[in-house]
Amino acid sequence: MIVAIDGPAGAGKSTVARELARRRGFQLVDTGAMYRAVAYEAAKAGVDLQNPEAVAEVAESLDFEFSFVDGENVIYCNGRPLHDEIRIAKVSRNASIVSAHPKVRTVLVEQQRRVGRERPSVLEGRDIGTVVFPDADLKVFITAAPEVRAQRRVEQMSEQGQEADYQRVLDEIVERDRRDRKREIAPLRLADDGVQIDTSNLGIEEVIAEIEELLEDKD
Ligand code: DC
Repeated sequence: MIVAIDGPAGAGKSTVARELARRRGFQLVDTGAMYRAVAYEAAKAGVDLQNPEAVAEVAESLDFEFSFVDGENVIYCNGRPLHDEIRIAKVSRNASIVSAHPKVRTVLVEQQRRVGRERPSVLEGRDIGTVVFPDADLKVFITAAPEVRAQRRVEQMSEQGQEADYQRVLDEIVERDRRDRKREIAPLRLADDGVQIDTSNLGIEEVIAEIEELLEDKD
């Protein structure tokens, strides 16, 4: 069983994917975390992020696993857990850069397929329903207005004690969306047979209930 959850940053995709995986006892493959890990490891190794070959080589050297630890989904990169270090703004920007390299995507998509096939899985990303698992049992595209997403992000950051400027966060979201939607390879879009859910005015429970209903039709 493969559930594909795609959509832009800040639409609530991660929360929905995590809750769904937790309730169903599925593995959660956070593919964004894989692009982040590649960006993080490449920068740490002093690799030029604009060099596709060099970054792809870093991606090839990494082996990923996912596991829930105390309710949190943890990514293991060559056996080592990665946490907040891959969530900072610099890594977000760098992940967007490395994810635009076709060769890097080829390497990671292969790993995503391998990891996803191991057990019943929820895969969360941008191109799961369109590229990684076009035959997924269910494809959901989670979206929300950019202003709503920026507001949620600001609240999340201030909860974590980080200072956040709404306008700057909004600008970054709009810019990242533009890059993710316009890129030539695996652009962010709704799969032809995907179901779109706009979370601008929906709570997490309502979104989960909608997906559970869709899943029941497949069981
Ligand atoms: O979901 P996220 O913010 O953790 O993703 C980090 C970056 O990786 C973001 O720029 C989009 C990109 N990404 C991608 O291109 N394809 C995926 N399947 C997942 C993420």
